[in-house]
Amino acid sequence: MEQLSVKHLLGIKELTENDIHLIFKTAESFKQVINRPIKKVPSLRDITIANLFFENSTRTKLSFELAEKRLSADILNFSAAQSSVKKGETLIDTVNNILSMKVDMVVMRHSKPGAPHFLSQKVNARIINAGDGTHEHPTQALLDAFSIKEKLGEINGKKIVIIGDILHSRVALSNIYCLQKCGAEVMVCGPHTLIPKDIHLLGVKVEHNLINALKWCDIANVLRIQLERQDIQYFPSLREYSMLYGLNKEIFKKIDKEIFIMHPGPINRGVEITSDVADSSQSIILQQVENGVAIRMAVIYLLAAQI
Ligand code: CP
Repeated sequence: MEQLSVKHLLGIKELTENDIHLIFKTAESFKQVINRPIKKVPSLRDITIANLFFENSTRTKLSFELAEKRLSADILNFSAAQSSVKKGETLIDTVNNILSMKVDMVVMRHSKPGAPHFLSQKVNARIINAGDGTHEHPTQALLDAFSIKEKLGEINGKKIVIIGDILHSRVALSNIYCLQKCGAEVMVCGPHTLIPKDIHLLGVKVEHNLINALKWCDIANVLRIQLERQDIQYFPSLREYSMLYGLNKEIFKKIDKEIFIMHPGPINRGVEITSDVADSSQSIILQQVENGVAIRMAVIYLLAAQI
């Protein structure tokens, strides 16, 4: 059996191109499984997985949980808000207590960049990063790239623009690494204040004009403004942001070109995207969510194969 080059999924940066293709190939098989009348396989009956969410989540949490259930793993769900973290327990004490219950794998979301990397050096379990602060969100990038491949037939040579709050986005960084490893050209688009100054060093194009960006791309991946991570004001108002960088049907009339629209969620309707675009046939937002389950099944299955 082909194996991943990594023991943990901490970020896309550490993955090889072969790892990404192996995850896609495995996810294609699991996508067939989850579309069958019997959606489960017994592959991970002997594996226990803890889902540790120290930060809020809807899609990622439910998608991992469903992926684990489809693989027949045993699951522990931990949410910091209802835990002894609120009484002052440290991350490492929390995790060691959970691991003493014989857990094989940990899926962790945390607000601090590097938290899953720290954990991988301290505990004897496979770690999957489900989003660490503004750093990486590897399974989101994998499901995004998988959805692009499904829609366009291939990723190599395609042009993808990521629009919005690049500065605070873990989705943007993981997408840049993943799409470039798959041979795509990547552009970022947004106001100067929300684009990191040195981002061109990653080999991405930078564009501040939304129309130019949309004319250039095959697919636009639209990001939410992450107000919860902004301690200062980066633009005058959401209304002005929306006028300059929000996607709506009028803009698509101006560019006269069919492109597909992605969004990792959660959507702020009327800010970065209007409902007539988010819910249109151009949008592949719900296909991304569907593919998330197959991608997470593939990642868990491939990491478990090394235990
Ligand atoms: N895309 C994403 O990470 O969404 P959640 O925060 O709801 O998990």
